[in-house]
Amino acid sequence: MVKSEIKKIGVLTSGGDGPGMNAAIRSVVRCALSNGREVAGIIRGYQGLIDDEIVALSHRSVSNIINRGGTILKTARSEEFKTKEGQREAFETLKKHNIDALVVIGGDGSYRGAEEFSRSYNFPVVALPGTIDNDLCGTDQTIGCRTAVHTALESIDKIRDTAHSMERIFVIEVMGNKSGYIALEVALGAGAEDVLIPERPFDYKTLCDNITLGHKKGKISWMIIVAEGSAKAPEVASKIHEITGLETRFVVLGHVQRGGCPSGADRTLATRLGAVAVDLLLKGKYGKAVGVLQDEINIVDINRACKRENPHIEEYSRLIEILR
Ligand code: F6P
Repeated sequence: MVKSEIKKIGVLTSGGDGPGMNAAIRSVVRCALSNGREVAGIIRGYQGLIDDEIVALSHRSVSNIINRGGTILKTARSEEFKTKEGQREAFETLKKHNIDALVVIGGDGSYRGAEEFSRSYNFPVVALPGTIDNDLCGTDQTIGCRTAVHTALESIDKIRDTAHSMERIFVIEVMGNKSGYIALEVALGAGAEDVLIPERPFDYKTLCDNITLGHKKGKISWMIIVAEGSAKAPEVASKIHEITGLETRFVVLGHVQRGGCPSGADRTLATRLGAVAVDLLLKGKYGKAVGVLQDEINIVDINRACKRENPHIEEYSRLIEILR
């Protein structure tokens, strides 16, 4: 389906929302318009393509959004798009609206959908890393992650006040189903005593031995950061209490981490990547994912950009142990 000239670019956000997605949309829209191209916004990600939910986007459509969390285009996790029939319907919608190319802003699952769709229909797609999980190859940072870490830290700093004043153990659950990236960053930044992540198995005996040892040495509070994919905070808290007899509380931070005003770093990242996505499409370079490595733009094939293992697990874990 690849056309020689791209006249209209579609943009969508998919999967979990993240702070900075709006800044990326704004950049895509305005860069495309300044190159004389039209832009179509697709509502609710891939599902909106299937359901034919398309809106025209102008310069004004993206005014006053650079500082807003969430996504003005809304987002969804589409099961239907994983099917051949769903993708065929999506393709029909693109044809109907004369959309020649797509910018997909999302995480791991959205990248896989983008790759499969662009391969099956030979359709021009460029993907941008929009997820708080920071778990994609080809980029050091994903849009939203740094804001999410900061948001979590703001809450944990408050919890620390109680942990210290009332001499308690706190188990704090952060997001990250398959990735412990947020948990590790947050544990290091919050000065937590321990961290549980999906990438590393843990056992209650070692966890509790460390707490008891710390307690004997006069440590009056203890914070454990748990990635949601590793264990559930209520369960960890009750097990610790059962084994150590120490007073333990838990907090699940949940979706508070995904919302709010994007940090300066996330806005800059989103804006830079949005501009590169348009540039690539207009140069006829498709099937790519755009990211940054050491702050320089990095472009890889989408199929090489899915799921990344955090390279800092050992380093961070060691530090958390030493600094405890
Ligand atoms: O992928 C981003 C993320 O926030 C994960 O960290 C989390 O596991 C998941 O989304 C939660 O998804 P939902 O909002 O659909 O429950």
